[in-house]
Amino acid sequence: MISIAPSILAADFSKLGELVHQVDLGGANRIHVDVMDGHFVPNLSMGPVVVKGLRPITKLPLEVHLMVDNPSRFVDSFLQAGADTLIVHFEVVSDPLPLIQEIRGRGRKVGLAINPGTSVDVLKDYITDIDLALCMTVWPGFGGQSFLPESPERIQKLRELIEKLNPRCELEVDGGVDLQTAPVCVRHGADVLVAGTAIFGSPKGPKLATEQLGRIRA
Ligand code: DX5
Ligand code: ZN
Repeated sequence: MISIAPSILAADFSKLGELVHQVDLGGANRIHVDVMDGHFVPNLSMGPVVVKGLRPITKLPLEVHLMVDNPSRFVDSFLQAGADTLIVHFEVVSDPLPLIQEIRGRGRKVGLAINPGTSVDVLKDYITDIDLALCMTVWPGFGGQSFLPESPERIQKLRELIEKLNPRCELEVDGGVDLQTAPVCVRHGADVLVAGTAIFGSPKGPKLATEQLGRIRA
């Protein structure tokens, strides 16, 4: 089963509640919330207040992608706001285990993300302790970028690691995912597709765009 995670970064924030409702009707499996601090990535986006605002209006799980230098500072506020999953970048944590334990200890899910420049192998020691591994398929910081050509090979490598070490760990891809690149991701082993522009920028509207992505098969 492929899961679809619409990234609200590409949504019109003046209609956020209605747009989340539309992707829910289109079969979205979770909502992807991109948090940027202007340090780890050269852009600023949203904080816990957005998660808190979405929490009462949707039953979909809210996953928070923390593109920040110091994720441990924000764990508590995002969990309190109602996040179901926190995804932390491997590049900014010298020892991910305490953070993983803290998040799981509070009954939520945890993911580790890697940038395009980070070897997939670094996740080897942590796959057994996480719920989700996120392979960035663009450099993080902005929506609407093109899927990087080296991504399929990286996805496949990560799939092999997951199969060997913890098949229950989800393999998510994020960046430049659309109707052309999604089948490539799935064919190489992705089971969660994040999509921002392809959903909220689609002329067909977010409901239909989510439905179409959900029908993707390798
Ligand atoms: C990039 C973010 C992505 C982004 C995806 O820094 O992590 O989640 O919003 O947007 P699209 O689908 O437009 O590439
Ligand atoms: Zn993201």
